[in-house]
Amino acid sequence: MIEGADGYRTDIGYVYGYHGELNPLRVRLAFLNAGLQPPEIATACELGFGQGVSLVLHAAASPVQWHATDINPAHAAYARTLAMASGTPVDIRHDSFVDFSGRDLPAFDYIGLHGVWSWISDGNRATIVEFVRRHLKPGGVLYTGYNTLPGWAAFSPLRHLMVEHANRPGSAHKPIAERIDDAVDFSDRLLAAEPAFARDNPGTIARIKAARDDDRPYLAHEFFNRDWQPMHFTDVARALAPAGVGYVCAADYSDHLDAMGWSASQRSLIEEADDAGLRETVRDMIANQRFRRDYWVRGAKRLSAAERTEALRLQRVIAVAHPLDFPFKVKAALALSQVEPGEAVCGSVIERLADGKAWSLGQIEQALQPKGISIGQIAQAVVLIASNGLIEAAQEDATIARVRSRTDRLNAHLIAQAGTSDNVHALASPVTGGGIHASRKELLFLAEVLQGRRRPDDWAGHAAKVLTTGASIVDLTAAAHAFATDRLPLLRALQVV
Ligand SMILES: C[S@@+](CC[C@H](N)C(=O)[O-])C[C@H]1O[C@@H](n2cnc3c(N)ncnc32)[C@H](O)[C@@H]1O
Repeated sequence: MIEGADGYRTDIGYVYGYHGELNPLRVRLAFLNAGLQPPEIATACELGFGQGVSLVLHAAASPVQWHATDINPAHAAYARTLAMASGTPVDIRHDSFVDFSGRDLPAFDYIGLHGVWSWISDGNRATIVEFVRRHLKPGGVLYTGYNTLPGWAAFSPLRHLMVEHANRPGSAHKPIAERIDDAVDFSDRLLAAEPAFARDNPGTIARIKAARDDDRPYLAHEFFNRDWQPMHFTDVARALAPAGVGYVCAADYSDHLDAMGWSASQRSLIEEADDAGLRETVRDMIANQRFRRDYWVRGAKRLSAAERTEALRLQRVIAVAHPLDFPFKVKAALALSQVEPGEAVCGSVIERLADGKAWSLGQIEQALQPKGISIGQIAQAVVLIASNGLIEAAQEDATIARVRSRTDRLNAHLIAQAGTSDNVHALASPVTGGGIHASRKELLFLAEVLQGRRRPDDWAGHAAKVLTTGASIVDLTAAAHAFATDRLPLLRALQVV
C-alpha cells in the first residue's frame, strides 16, 4: 500500500531541486529558433511544484504572476515561507489537481509541470489535460518534463521488483526509507546472481548500483509511488491533443542541435522522418532518451524570416559561467559537430559576452559586423552556447531593477538557511529571471560577504565552523580564494549579490 494522496507519497518530502527548464524566460529563444512567435508571459501556473524552489525563484525574479498547487501540504508550507521571505505574492495551494481545477483561476500564458506527468494516474493526467484546455490562453505555452521511452524500458521490470519488495505486507511496519534500502539491496543481490534479465539488460546493473547513492527522498518519489508511467512522445502528444496544444520544440536547447555529436547516418534518418511524431521517436531511439523537456503551444504562429530576425535582434543573453570555462567546453562540443556554427563564430560571440554584461543579439551583430557574421549565425551560436549551460536569456534592465529587492530578500533568506540546513542549492538572479546553482560551501561564503567581510580566509573560517565534518580549513581556504576570483564576480554580474 502506498501512503499518501491519490497514490502519491506524502509520507516523505521531495528534494529541494531547482529546475531552470521551468523558467518562462527560456521560451523566447527556443520559439524564435523554431521560427515561431513566442507569447508575452504575464501569468503562469506550476502544477506539482514539489518544495517550490523553482516556483518561488521564478516568481521572485520576474514580474510574472504565478499560481501553483502541490497536494503535499508540507511542500506548500515550505514554498510559502520562501515566497514570504522574498515578499513576492504567489498563489500557492495544496489542492489536488482535481480541486485546483475547480478554483476560480485566470487564463495562463504559461503552464509548467516538471516531473509530474509520469508519476500520476491516468485520471489525473486527464484532469491536467482538461485544466490546460480550460486555462491556457491562445498562443500560450505548456511545458512538460516527463519520463520517456525507450530510455526507461529496460529498467521498468526492476522498478516493478523494487515496489513489490517494498510493499510486501511483512515490511509494512517499516518507514519508507528503510523499505527502499531493503528493496535496492535485494535488487542488487538479485542482479549479482546473474539472472537472464541482467545478461540481456546489462545497463540495469549500473543503474541499481547508482540508486544506492541517490537521496532516499528522491528515490521514494521517483520509483515508489503507485503510478510510474514513462511514455513515448507520440503517446503524450495524443494524450494532450484534446487540450488543443501541439508540439513546438524541446525546452532543452541541446535538443535543438541534432547535428551535434550524431553520425551522418543518424542525421539522415532524422531528416528522412517527414512527420514530427516519427522524427521525435527516431531522435529518442538514437539518444535512448529517458527524460523529455517539451514545449507545446495552443495555436502556433509562424514568423516570417524578417519578423524572426527582428525578434532575434531584441533577445538579450548573459554569461552564467566564468568566462574561462567557455573555450574548453564549447570547443569540445564543436569538435563533435561538423556543421554550423563554426568555432570562429562561437568564439566571437563568447568574446563579446565575456565582459559579464547582458547583450542583445542585435548588439552582438553590430559588434561582429566587421567579421561578416550574420544574425542567423549568431542565433545558432547562442543556442549552442546556451545548450552547454554557459549563457541564458536576460531580462530588460527596467525589469531587473523592478524585481531586484525581492531576489535580494530571497537570497538573504536562502543564504541564512544554509547555516543550519543543506537543502536548497540555488539563488535567484533578477537578470535571468531564475536560479543559479550555488553549493552549500558557496552559500556559507556568501553569508560572510553579506556581512561585509572581504577576506576569503574569514569566509573559510565561518564555513569551517558550520561544516564540522568532511571539510578541512586548508581546503576551505583554497575554495574561498577560488570563489573570490571565479564565482563571486559572476554572481555580482548576475546581481545575485
Ligand atoms: C516528482 S515530484 C516533482 C516536484 C517538482 N515539480 C520538481 O520537479 O522538483 C511530483 C510532485 O507532484 C505532486 N503531486 C502528485 N500528485 C498530485 C496531485 N494529484 N495533485 C497535486 N499535486 C500532486 C507531489 O506532491 C510532488 O511534489
